[in-house]
Amino acid sequence: MSKTAVPGASAAGVQTLLTVEHLTMRFGGLVAVDDISFEAGNRQITAVIGPNGAGKTTVFNCLTGFYKPSVGRITLNHPRHGPMLLERMEGFRIPQQAQVARTFQNIRLFGAMSVLENLIVAQHNELMQASGFTIAGLLGLARYRDAERRAVDRARRWLERVGLLDRADLPAAGLPYGDQRRLEIARAMCISPVLLCLDEPAAGLNPHETAALNGLLRMIRDEEGIGILLIEHDMNVVMDVSDHVVVLDYGKKIAEGSPAQVRSDPSVIRAYLGEEEDEDLPTEVAADLAAEQGQPAGTRGNGAG
Ligand SMILES: Nc1ncnc2c1ncn2[C@@H]1O[C@H](COP(=O)(O)OP(=O)(O)OP(=O)(O)O)[C@@H](O)[C@H]1O
Ligand SMILES: [Mg+2]
Repeated sequence: MSKTAVPGASAAGVQTLLTVEHLTMRFGGLVAVDDISFEAGNRQITAVIGPNGAGKTTVFNCLTGFYKPSVGRITLNHPRHGPMLLERMEGFRIPQQAQVARTFQNIRLFGAMSVLENLIVAQHNELMQASGFTIAGLLGLARYRDAERRAVDRARRWLERVGLLDRADLPAAGLPYGDQRRLEIARAMCISPVLLCLDEPAAGLNPHETAALNGLLRMIRDEEGIGILLIEHDMNVVMDVSDHVVVLDYGKKIAEGSPAQVRSDPSVIRAYLGEEEDEDLPTEVAADLAAEQGQPAGTRGNGAG
């Protein structure tokens, strides 16, 4: 297992869970991800942020086997199995063997199935193995019944943790949007991941739901002891829960560091607001930017071009 410290991570002794090196993904002439390298620590929340179209979801699709990267190496330092090269694994083996789980920017649940059934289906791999690929299941053997009981227990435990136990028997499609987002996280947790990748989990949530999500993410990091990769546009979430932040723009990594470091990074501010917007920067952002550039606040935009 790698003992490398994650660059920019403040806590000493953070172990590297994921190493992404020179990741590049081309679609014809479009370079969606362009030579990106970063690390994510175990027991850390690493946020991947950037404007629309920056390449964030494409990075997740490469990590989780939905795309084969054009170039690059993705190493998961699995706490029990050691280093695994994800870009060389078949996509369907990544959740099963590498234990990398994800949620989707556009929610993907089985809408007609119940909330509980969605979590049982997620554990099909373990159930299929216990069933001896259906024979033991058909015969109702003890081995299969035990595996089934464990799957239901795990599902109910996660429903309780995300506050959906009382809705276990409702169709997933009937849940309010915020509940569906939490159900997706519960489903990902049912495969007992070592790395959880969340694509915009706070999208569409109200402030109360967002605060609860922050608590859930911290609980998963601290109590499950796993790494979380978080794509998020809501800066309140990013600043509140992240241990480390990686910033992408037009497929390239433009900054990384602690939340405070990236928040005051001029290149990050420009990526989000655009050059021409500089004169309208909020006072505290303008002050950060001016300090970064060694100017008194309020002098930006005067003849700076
Ligand atoms: N399968 C694909 N085929 C062609 N182009 C793609 C494909 N997937 C993504 N892209 C392009 O790659 C670029 C990066 O897209 P991506 O979805 O990764 O951005 P993103 O950072 O997740 O944006 P958003 O914040 O809007 O979700 C975009 O220009 C997008 O149109
Ligand atoms: Mg996206």
